[in-house]
Amino acid sequence: MRTPLIAGNWKMNGSMSLIEDFGRKFSDATLSEAVKVVVIPPFPYLEAARQAFRDTPLALGAQTLNPADSGAHTGEVSGRMLTELNATYVLVGHSERRELYGESDEQVFDRLLAALSVGLVPILCVGESLEERDAGRTMDVVLRQVGYAMARLDPEQRQKVVIAYEPVWAIGTGRTATPEQAQEVMAGIRAYQAEFNTTLAEQLTLLYGGSMNVKNAAELLAQPDIDGGLVGGASLKTDDFFAICQSAG
Ligand code: 13P
Repeated sequence: MRTPLIAGNWKMNGSMSLIEDFGRKFSDATLSEAVKVVVIPPFPYLEAARQAFRDTPLALGAQTLNPADSGAHTGEVSGRMLTELNATYVLVGHSERRELYGESDEQVFDRLLAALSVGLVPILCVGESLEERDAGRTMDVVLRQVGYAMARLDPEQRQKVVIAYEPVWAIGTGRTATPEQAQEVMAGIRAYQAEFNTTLAEQLTLLYGGSMNVKNAAELLAQPDIDGGLVGGASLKTDDFFAICQSAG
């Protein structure tokens, strides 16, 4: 059985007071132990989150990392530094990194390897643009992104990766993929993984991301190949995010 995972990607949002609010909410209210939850704030809030989340079930994640361990990379952060702050997850290849900062499949893979090398769980983000969907290329694009990384990993590494399917046209638009659209692509990702190893494919945690909210979460999470969510906007509202986590438990 796969444990549901809900990840809140704050992107370049949030504040010290939101961190404290999350700490209070998740220590006061009881969340089912059947769900794992990770909060992914911007780098400057990681230390405050580490402290505020001490008495909560919340794990910590980061939004990206540099492939190098240290060195002359002004403005960058390494995986080792993230682990020192108790981060256990890291996003790699978010579509905003691919689009706005030009990250190629190769660069995404380097980050994924760097994450694995320090014991962080990489959440590999993939997804097609609206243009690609309309051209009937969804599966080609998604499996290219997944395949570039997965085919280069050994079985032991492959088993540690979480994959998030985030159709670019559904991110921040309020236009969620239908449960059927999401399920179709995510079943395709699992089938691809099964070509390497059927047991690993069964164990692979697959998240859906793109305008997931309190209203649509349960229906999306009920799909057989959707094991959790990567939540953007709705993860900035403490009560909404808590409710989404509950609907996964
Ligand atoms: P929204 O939930 O705001 O659409 O963002 C999704 C996302 O990109 C999470 O990584």
